[in-house]
Amino acid sequence: MKRIVIASRNRGKIAEIREILSLGDVELLDLDSAGFHERIEENGRTFMENAVIKARAVFTRVGLPVVADDSGIAVEALGGRPGVKSARFAGPGATDEENNALLLELLKGVPESARGASFICSAVLCFGRGEWLRAEGRVDGFVAGAPAGENGFGYDPLFILPSFGKTMAELPPAVKNAVSHRAKAFGELGRLMRLEEPPVFPRFRR
Ligand code: IMP
Repeated sequence: MKRIVIASRNRGKIAEIREILSLGDVELLDLDSAGFHERIEENGRTFMENAVIKARAVFTRVGLPVVADDSGIAVEALGGRPGVKSARFAGPGATDEENNALLLELLKGVPESARGASFICSAVLCFGRGEWLRAEGRVDGFVAGAPAGENGFGYDPLFILPSFGKTMAELPPAVKNAVSHRAKAFGELGRLMRLEEPPVFPRFRR
């Protein structure tokens, strides 16, 4: 069985990547199952730089093909913030609730027409030294005035998708995983992986 490591500890994200990639006979390992227990310093300036940093760190240690993503929310009224700092917007180790509370506080009094935001995801597959596949996905929406919905993670309760008139957290996971930034990035990455067959896949065997 071919094995690929998902370079993340975010359970919500891992579940989504598993569902979106649906690679059939490939076993997708999380970091602990792959024996990788270190913390990775995400000091890139862009989502793509951070995705590459994560995948490279894990590939170098584990020696198996690795998929990684870096993602976040870019809010127009905040000049694109929090962007690559989305996970630690309210400080190191911040909870989703603290990040969401800070975002609402900063947008207090900002009308709906000026609350535009995007979820962005950069995804990579590293399958050998210097051998990479890359893809990006983005979805546009706006920031709600108050959280709504229980599904998903992170900023999902605040992110309204105009085509549904609902927050990401109000959508069933299967719907989020068909339309999200991560769905677009990993959908494309999966397509590239299948296209690359056989050059990529034989390397997955260990
Ligand atoms: P990462 O693990 O460094 O990519 O951090 C991503 C952070 O961006 C998460 O902790 C969330 O705060 C936010 N984020 C990324 N993708 C999503 C999503 O699909 N829904 C909600 N928040 C997200």
